[in-house]
Amino acid sequence: MAAPLTKTLPIFTTHSLFLFFFLLLLLLSSSTAAKSNQSSFAKTLDKPLSGFGKEKLTHFRIYWHDIVGGRNPTAVPVVTPSSNKTSPTGFGMVSMIDDPLTEGPEMTSKMVGRAQGFYALASLEEVGLLMAMNFAFIEGKYNGSSITIMGRNTVFSKVREMPVIGGSGLFRFARGYVQARTHKFDIKTGDATVEYNVYVLHY
Ligand SMILES: *[C@@H]1O[C@H](CO)[C@@H](O)[C@H](O)[C@H]1NC(C)=O
Ligand SMILES: *[C@@H]1O[C@H](CO)[C@@H](O)[C@H](O)[C@H]1NC(C)=O
Ligand SMILES: *[C@@H]1O[C@H](CO)[C@@H](O)[C@H](O)[C@H]1NC(C)=O
Repeated sequence: MAAPLTKTLPIFTTHSLFLFFFLLLLLLSSSTAAKSNQSSFAKTLDKPLSGFGKEKLTHFRIYWHDIVGGRNPTAVPVVTPSSNKTSPTGFGMVSMIDDPLTEGPEMTSKMVGRAQGFYALASLEEVGLLMAMNFAFIEGKYNGSSITIMGRNTVFSKVREMPVIGGSGLFRFARGYVQARTHKFDIKTGDATVEYNVYVLHY
């Protein structure tokens, strides 16, 4: 009667001993790994706990006014290529902008923000701009929030698409794209009104 008990007992203890050391090793290795990744300046956060809700898609249709002529231009050339290097596409020119963004196509319609940044003529072959600008909103709940647009704008194309690469305030973690369509272009003054359809994913 006692024989089977003494036989099974050693097997049971080596098993449990093995399991115990295995678990201890696992615990030690995981805790040292976690410790070695700890740092005084960085910490991985649990996203749902950080106060971010569900990601949503917002669409804006706004009008961008580039005023290069007149007494109060909103676009000012800051880099002009040396005269012996001018190309028919104006390659190399850079303008800083602080262009009004309005709800409707008319300058008199409600201002919702400003497009601040620069555009640079970046194509030798056609009139192609590199746009780098922030849409700084001033209207309603968007007041104080901004989105950052950086992309290629071949101004004589019907539709130009540029990426939204980020944002601030309500637009933290923003990503998306804009589609720009020229609404009005004055050849004499160079002033332009462009319709911007903005599609932006944010929280
Ligand atoms: C710590 O960093 C190493 C190397 O980058 C990685 O292999 C390990 O999984 C990390 N451990 C933890 C707990 O994140
Ligand atoms: C172009 O103009 C610059 C100064 O603006 C001058 O130094 C350079 O020699 C000129 N190059 C040619 C090929 O004329
Ligand atoms: C936008 O915010 C600024 C600063 O907080 C404030 O002065 C301004 O009145 C606000 N504008 C609108 C339209 O709410």
